[in-house]
Amino acid sequence: MRVLVTGGAGYIGSHTVLQLLEAGHQVSVVDNFINSSPESLRRVVSIASKKVATFRVDLLDRKALAEAITSIQPDAVIHFAGLKAVGESVAQPLRYYKNNVTGTINLLEAMDEAGCRTIVFSSSATVYGESVDLPLRETTPRSATNPYGRTKLHIEEMLEELAASDSRWRIANLRYFNPVGAHESGLIGEDPQGIPNNLMPFVAQVAVGKRDAVQVFGNDYPTADGTGVRDYIHVLDLAAGHLAALDYLASSGGLHVWNLGTGSGSSVLDVIEAFQRISARLVPYDIVARRPGDVAESYAHAEKARLDLGWKAERGLEQMVEDMWRWQFKNPDGFPKVGHEEMNSLELRDFVLGEVASNK
Ligand code: NAD
Ligand code: UD1
Repeated sequence: MRVLVTGGAGYIGSHTVLQLLEAGHQVSVVDNFINSSPESLRRVVSIASKKVATFRVDLLDRKALAEAITSIQPDAVIHFAGLKAVGESVAQPLRYYKNNVTGTINLLEAMDEAGCRTIVFSSSATVYGESVDLPLRETTPRSATNPYGRTKLHIEEMLEELAASDSRWRIANLRYFNPVGAHESGLIGEDPQGIPNNLMPFVAQVAVGKRDAVQVFGNDYPTADGTGVRDYIHVLDLAAGHLAALDYLASSGGLHVWNLGTGSGSSVLDVIEAFQRISARLVPYDIVARRPGDVAESYAHAEKARLDLGWKAERGLEQMVEDMWRWQFKNPDGFPKVGHEEMNSLELRDFVLGEVASNK
């Protein structure tokens, strides 16, 4: 199948591109590298020994996007491209609505024009808002507590209305729980810019000595050890969920929603303990105030994906931490930074094969 992956250079995108290549799909990527490096794709290509046609295009550039899609002629699109930092979305709401919502509208219009109407969308467990009705089911009422979450909610609703308006669309809304871990090669992984917002990359940076201590946001929650509990899911399991959703859509029209989680949670202290054990490094931590907007516990009801897609998460916390640590240890500063000059030389239709080479 010809699959276009938007945001394919990013954390979840790069792992998914690799699995698509390994499964024999022909993969193209559209990314503007606002939060990623072409180096991730170079490494994917070197692991898979297959090429990825890479288009340096912003989803907000309708013309360039339409050109890319016309030339790719995808059978299906997996849509990761988006901004994802909650705090930043509160400070810059319009930027988030424009990038995530307008970017998605541009993509859907360009797909429609090119006759491709199959899309797998990166939604998030954030659409369950502050729900305490656990486990969180696909039918749990949705709400949002910040602009980032509201962009996901708006896009889900927009996709529902699109599917209702035209039965040719085949749509999967995948609600991810907390993606962590990295490919077992240690060559690709999450490369947060600046101070990580999320727990696991922060703990990894403390373990490797880049930061002094983890701040544990509250130990007075009604959980076993008082710290927040989340459903961490290995990024490779998550990536596999996308391939399963694509398979499903190949034979079923309409819109479908699936949680992608493990169905059980780990606390902040569980994560710190696992990291200390596996890295054999000390991970100092301080208990501080709760982070506003955090819920005590969040974990998925993961049965629907198992029944419909035959998919379930295979990897546990140990594996997640082991793979995350390997990536962090081998790449303490993330991917090597790409200079402006090299970045500017990346044009539409650059092909990535071992290294980025212009075909002009
Ligand atoms: P990421 O930032 O690593 O990847 C997103 C990619 O999209 C990046 O490569 C970025 O450069 C690209 N991008 C952003 N805006 C773009 C635009 N306008 N045009 C072209 N490319 C653009 O993030 P990720 O962790 O891989 O997340 C992928 C998707 O999954 C996002 O939509 C995110 O909201 C969603 N999601 C992520 C998590 C998580 O914890 N990582 C959880 C739930 C949902
Ligand atoms: C966060 C986002 C959520 C997004 C999700 C994606 C917020 C408020 N929510 O959720 O919208 O969908 O990431 O993965 O940002 N913690 C600490 N110290 C830290 C960081 C986190 O104690 O330095 C705790 C948190 O209180 C929480 C747990 O660790 O209990 C996990 O936090 P995090 O990784 O940020 O994920 P979420 O809170 O689930």
